[in-house]
This record gives sequence, structure tokens and C-alpha cells, in this order.
Amino acid sequence: MNEQLEKAISDLVSFPILPDAALELIELANSSAFMFRDMVSIIERDPAIAANVMKVANSPENGRAGAVSSINQASEILNIKELAELVMKSATSSYFSTGADDGYVYLIRMRDHSVLTGQVARVLAEEMGQSDSAMFYLAGLIHDVGFLLLSRSFWGSFSGLVSQTSSEDKDIWELEKSEFGATHAEVGARILEKWGLPPALVGGIRFHHNPWEDDKSQELSTIVHFANFLSHYMLDKSAPFDLKKKIDNFLHSPGADLVEKFGFPLTPENFVKLTDKLEEKAGSAK
Ligand SMILES: [Fe+2]
Ligand SMILES: [Fe+2]
Repeated sequence: MNEQLEKAISDLVSFPILPDAALELIELANSSAFMFRDMVSIIERDPAIAANVMKVANSPENGRAGAVSSINQASEILNIKELAELVMKSATSSYFSTGADDGYVYLIRMRDHSVLTGQVARVLAEEMGQSDSAMFYLAGLIHDVGFLLLSRSFWGSFSGLVSQTSSEDKDIWELEKSEFGATHAEVGARILEKWGLPPALVGGIRFHHNPWEDDKSQELSTIVHFANFLSHYMLDKSAPFDLKKKIDNFLHSPGADLVEKFGFPLTPENFVKLTDKLEEKAGSAK
């Protein structure tokens, strides 16, 4: 990891939050009709808010250090006023140091991808009979938070990598590795580890692009890996890349073997059946 990146990670106090989510929360905090469920649903729809909330919930002052692994648990610890304060502190109207309109487009897309990955991870966990599907949702939601730091601190070089991935159909983590000496998955995991999140959650995020290298939280990293793939598949269906090739690549990757090991036979028919089901469930959860 290069020195500037190390410094950006150690300087990070919280992920900056886009103004629309902050406004929504402040309106809610001032409303008399506030419900616990509303607070949870705001946190569930924004990876930056979710990661910041998890930091506070897992801080030693709250007495549950390293043990809070879902948004519901975190919301029970924080009240709406504390949450509103936390969000206000991290809300920013100047996300990038220079005007980067394409940066905002990127962030909104990244947010949509993250929420959908969380929804898909939850469905997969339920299908597998996991009792704590809420942790899988959270892992899916915050799996790419490393992007938030890379885009904010290094937009000039990072945006170059993003356009390279779409024009040359390259994987972004390989480009990140040569540009920064670390991938967004490693960056995100480093931050969340430093903030005291449960080790299983951190592991699931660190290995979401290579779960076969994970020897501690492989079920979680595999589900996030697969959910990430499906989420791209569902959001980018109209994108001009060769979808069949992407699916074929996935089916022939070591990740597919792990998905099968944890209970999903990936025959082409099953694959289509599963994505139809996910689209239906994710759609009804909106
Ligand atoms: Fe990723
Ligand atoms: Fe992702």
C-alpha cells in the first residue's frame, strides 16, 4: 500500500455523507411521527452512513466493542438524536476538492450497487438457512466502502481507473493494486478493522473478490462475492458488455466452486431461476 493511501486511511474519521441522505435523516429526527423502523431504513440505504454507524456502535464507550454486526443492533444502541448528530458531522456538500460531476454520478451508482448487493446477500443467506441474514445484508451494503475513500482522496487517478475498467473490460482491483498498492477491498477492510467492527465482517469484506483465499469467514465472503456478481448482473443488464462471457467466466471461477460448496448448484437453469427470484424479492423490498 503506498504512503499517501496509508495516510488517507489513518486520517479518516468518518466516511463523508452525501447531502440528500443527511437531509432525509434530519427531517426524520425532527418529525413527531418518527419510528425506529424509519431510522433503520435510512441506514440500510447508504453504505457511508452504515459504516459510520457501525464504527460508533462498536466503539468501546458503548460496551459492545467488536460485537455489533447488524444495522438493527446498532440502531438499538444509538438513538435518533445521536444518529442525526453523527450524520450532520459527516455530511458534506463538497465531496470532492475540485468540481467532479462525474464523481457524483459514480457515487450514486456505487450506492445503488451497494444496496442491491446487500439485498441479494440477505436473500442468499435466507435461502441457505442462515439465522443472521442481517449481518449478510450489512456486509453486502458496506463491501465496497473502500471505493469511498479512494474516490474522495484520489479522484484524479481513481476516475482514470474507473474509465479504464469500462473501456477495456478490466477488473478494477487489479488496476488499483498497481496504482495504489492495495485494492478497494483491502482498503475497506483496513478501515473497518481499525474502527473495531467484528472480525468476521471485516474478513467478508477483505476477501469479497477472492473468497477462496479466506480461511476464517469464507461463507460470508463467498456470499458477498456472489451477491456482488449478481448485483452487477442485475443493474448492468443493459450495459454494452458481453454478459454471456461474464456469466461463463463466473461459472468457471473458483468462486463458483465455493458457491456450490455452500449449497447452490450453479446449473444454467438454476442461475436464471435464482436471478429471477432475486429480482422479484429485491423489487418488493424497495
Ligand atoms: Fe468490490
Ligand atoms: Fe461491489
